[in-house]
Amino acid sequence: MSFFFFLLLFLFSSFLTPSLSQPPPLKGFLINCGSPSKTIIDSHSWLPDSNFISSGTPRNITSSVLIPTLKTLRSFPLQVKKHCYNIPVYRGAKYLVRTTFFYGGVNGPDHPSPPVFDQIVDGTLWTVVNTTEDYAIGNSTFYEGVFLAKGKFLSFCIGSNSYTDSDPFVSALEFLILGESLYNTTDFKNFAIGLVGRHSFGYSGVPIRYPDDQFDRIWEPFGQGNSTKANTDNVSVSGFWNLPPSKVFETHLGSDQLESLELRWPTASLPSSKYYIALYFADNTGGSRIFNISVNGVHYYRDLNAIPSGVVVFANQWPLSGPTTITLTPSASSSLGPLINAGEIFNVLSLGGRTSTRDVIALERVKKSLRNPPLDWSGDPCMPRQYSWTGVTCSEGSNIRVVTLNLTSMDLSGSLSPFVANMTALTNIWLGNNSLSGQIPNLRSLTMLETLHLDDNQFSGEIPSSLGNIGGLKEVFLQNNNLTGQVPANLIGKPGLIVRTSGNNFLSPPAP
Ligand SMILES: *[C@@H]1O[C@H](CO)[C@@H](O)[C@H](O)[C@H]1NC(C)=O
Ligand SMILES: *[C@@H]1O[C@H](CO)[C@@H](O)[C@H](O)[C@H]1NC(C)=O
Ligand SMILES: *[C@@H]1O[C@H](CO)[C@@H](O)[C@H](O)[C@H]1NC(C)=O
Ligand SMILES: *[C@@H]1O[C@H](CO)[C@@H](O)[C@H](O)[C@H]1NC(C)=O
Ligand SMILES: *[C@@H]1O[C@H](CO)[C@@H](O)[C@H](O)[C@H]1NC(C)=O
Ligand SMILES: *[C@@H]1O[C@H](CO)[C@@H](O)[C@H](O)[C@H]1NC(C)=O
Ligand SMILES: *[C@@H]1O[C@H](CO)[C@@H](O)[C@H](O)[C@H]1NC(C)=O
Ligand SMILES: *[C@@H]1O[C@H](CO)[C@@H](O)[C@H](O)[C@H]1NC(C)=O
Ligand SMILES: *[C@@H]1O[C@H](CO)[C@@H](O)[C@H](O)[C@H]1NC(C)=O
Ligand SMILES: *[C@@H]1O[C@H](CO)[C@@H](O)[C@H](O)[C@H]1NC(C)=O
Ligand SMILES: *[C@@H]1O[C@H](CO)[C@@H](O)[C@H](O)[C@H]1NC(C)=O
Repeated sequence: MSFFFFLLLFLFSSFLTPSLSQPPPLKGFLINCGSPSKTIIDSHSWLPDSNFISSGTPRNITSSVLIPTLKTLRSFPLQVKKHCYNIPVYRGAKYLVRTTFFYGGVNGPDHPSPPVFDQIVDGTLWTVVNTTEDYAIGNSTFYEGVFLAKGKFLSFCIGSNSYTDSDPFVSALEFLILGESLYNTTDFKNFAIGLVGRHSFGYSGVPIRYPDDQFDRIWEPFGQGNSTKANTDNVSVSGFWNLPPSKVFETHLGSDQLESLELRWPTASLPSSKYYIALYFADNTGGSRIFNISVNGVHYYRDLNAIPSGVVVFANQWPLSGPTTITLTPSASSSLGPLINAGEIFNVLSLGGRTSTRDVIALERVKKSLRNPPLDWSGDPCMPRQYSWTGVTCSEGSNIRVVTLNLTSMDLSGSLSPFVANMTALTNIWLGNNSLSGQIPNLRSLTMLETLHLDDNQFSGEIPSSLGNIGGLKEVFLQNNNLTGQVPANLIGKPGLIVRTSGNNFLSPPAP
């Protein structure tokens, strides 16, 4: 079994750890979707979302809500399959992404239940957003994940799926930079993690977050009071790489009797996947607490010693499915029963990949040169595959390139950017039956190009003679444009090449 997970134990001595009395301010963006202006809430500054997205409509919630960020949202037309926010980020930094949803009935009385839709980060389909249950009891829903910023922007998209029956929406977005050591055994170049549960055991107060947690992670209370006991002394825990707030070590679930502790945690039944699990322990009540840990009966860690300076046990990719039970069994050498202070569990997501940067930059320029580009042209052009841009088809494999650009009969106007020539994996360009004008760019660098359909537009100027140098070219359809000059000789009569040029203003007609 050992090849699909790996498990580590860390002990920390307190002298390693300077304690932070005043946590640093949060780094990143807090975005209050649909809000017309900046607002200060609990000393944090929340920005309006209009600088980060160009589609959708700001809406006000009519029902009264206490949390200020839930009063407004941005609503997106269902017909467009994806809508993306573009967030400026520090390349190489790790971001906690938290998204909050409160429907508030904005889609009218015909849709009393919130729509169910997808959320996407860069090229990765993160989760389905289903707020039905929470909304039914008047609660908002949040999702949290950790993603590496691979470029200068991170895109966050809302996607309409087959199960989406009214306009999707979002209430609030948070993009917070996490310390470098947090969750650093995860290979964030290939994976992201999505929160399933983060709990402070034996705790019953309001969720623990900033300033107790310097990154504003939310530690929710878990467990009734029966076996709860506050640690009697200070525990020094800031040496943990994941930097849990010391407040979670003030309570625990556990027992002084030499008996096993069984924990149904997390409470939800889990879909079959791999999970990152971190369990936190610290004890200085005196005596020894040494115990085995098993998860669903599978041996997880042996003879863990819950020392005062704290210990964390974590697994990177532990397979789980259905209900989860964590069992702590005291060892023979233990003088006290087991305890546990806190736990975090994340679903491990394989990253979906991103379109080659060269193609992304070129497509952004193509988008800019079109007066009315398709509405779903935002976020990653190719990924996730079911959310690729209208008219864009991409290659399989790890180097994701655009192979077809097909915007036939889309009522487009504007021009064709010369940057299209940078999309060197293109085999087909079909832009027929639109109202595109301007020159046909030099496409010499498109050595893979097989078909070029620019028919029924208003392209003007001359046909670039470099087209004749593209070896594999099979079809050049340029009929019904405003082209002038002469049809280049190297296109005429080229074996295997079909050229259509009727309906232009050429000086001399092409040879038959
Ligand atoms: C939302 O409410 C604010 C103030 O109550 C108002 O200024 C704004 O125009 C409203 N926005 C919409 C989209 O109705
Ligand atoms: C959303 O959640 C509700 C309540 O749990 C469930 O009944 C419904 O099937 C879910 N919808 C989708 C599309 O998953
Ligand atoms: C719903 O919200 C209330 C008040 O904020 C909270 O006490 C309760 O635990 C929440 N319920 C769920 C299921 O999250
Ligand atoms: C994680 O961070 C800690 C503290 O900075 C460092 O000692 C450790 O080597 C890092 N681990 C990995 C796998 O990068
Ligand atoms: C707490 O009490 C409940 C019922 O009173 C029991 O089922 C549960 O096992 C107890 N929890 C622990 C950790 O002992
Ligand atoms: C707890 O911490 C305080 C302040 O750091 C210190 O003065 C005190 O001696 C500590 N108590 C124990 C039992 O270590
Ligand atoms: C702890 O785990 C080890 C290794 O699986 C096992 O040999 C030992 O019997 C366990 N101890 C208890 C008390 O279950
Ligand atoms: C381009 O799209 C049109 C209609 O949308 C379709 O008929 C044609 O086969 C497509 N061409 C390519 C190369 O995909
Ligand atoms: C050309 O595009 C328009 C939409 O812009 C469409 O209505 C028309 O049928 C198309 N013509 C042909 C011949 O495909
Ligand atoms: C194509 O990409 C190169 C860099 O790869 C860039 O210098 C150039 O300006 C781009 N645009 C065009 C139209 O070639
Ligand atoms: C195309 O040519 C026609 C007639 O030659 C002219 O009326 C029209 O303005 C031209 N359109 C463009 C976009 O150049």
